[in-house]
Amino acid sequence: MPLHIVSHPLVHDALALLRDKQTPADTFRRVATRISVLLAAEALRDVPTATSTVVTPLGPAEARRVASDVVVVPVLRAGLGMLDAVLDLVPTARVGYIGLQRDEQTAIASRYYSKLPQGLTDSYVLMIDPMLATGGSASAALDLLRQAGASRVRIVCIVAAPEGVAVVERDHPDVAIYTPVVDSHLNAQKYIVPGLGDFGDRLYGTV
Ligand code: PRP
Ligand code: URA
Repeated sequence: MPLHIVSHPLVHDALALLRDKQTPADTFRRVATRISVLLAAEALRDVPTATSTVVTPLGPAEARRVASDVVVVPVLRAGLGMLDAVLDLVPTARVGYIGLQRDEQTAIASRYYSKLPQGLTDSYVLMIDPMLATGGSASAALDLLRQAGASRVRIVCIVAAPEGVAVVERDHPDVAIYTPVVDSHLNAQKYIVPGLGDFGDRLYGTV
């Protein structure tokens, strides 16, 4: 499955602000939503629509409405910073939650929460998590989605590392990744370099 690099200038303008260590938490939150709208729109580019007719003040017009079940799954906690954006785009989307936390020493993710909607087989599932670092969290979350029956899953992230992309491609080759960028490498603490730091801490001011 392809890696989709989203190169829209507005995506990269927002990414510059997110990377900047001077950006305060309130701006960081707003920009996280802005970039997520653009990324999610790209990840849903092929969502099926149904044709209908609506009546404008000047007469009937052919219309296309989203005709597939869309499910969005934020990986807690940082993925919550992308959720409002997707719900603005697809207000009827169903929402599942997966809670994963990386151990600060080993960077191995462990699960503390999971609540997924039923009947995912034909749904368009967007798994949202801003950082794809080692890929451990993404791979674990994708395992859960697969066990729940999801078959059409895309990951939307904001910064990816080559290591994380390789892990997802190895463990879940049918899952497409939408990201503006694949950065250079992971440091010894498994943070993405240059990345943008700890997304969850910057989003919620827990630095
Ligand atoms: C971050 C991020 C991803 C994960 C990526 O979450 O949001 O879920 O790390 O790292 P990986 O690819 O090496 O697994 P973290 O575990 O720090 O939790 P948080 O969202 O609660 O801050
Ligand atoms: N999680 C983050 O928030 N940032 C990284 O660089 C890696 C994992």
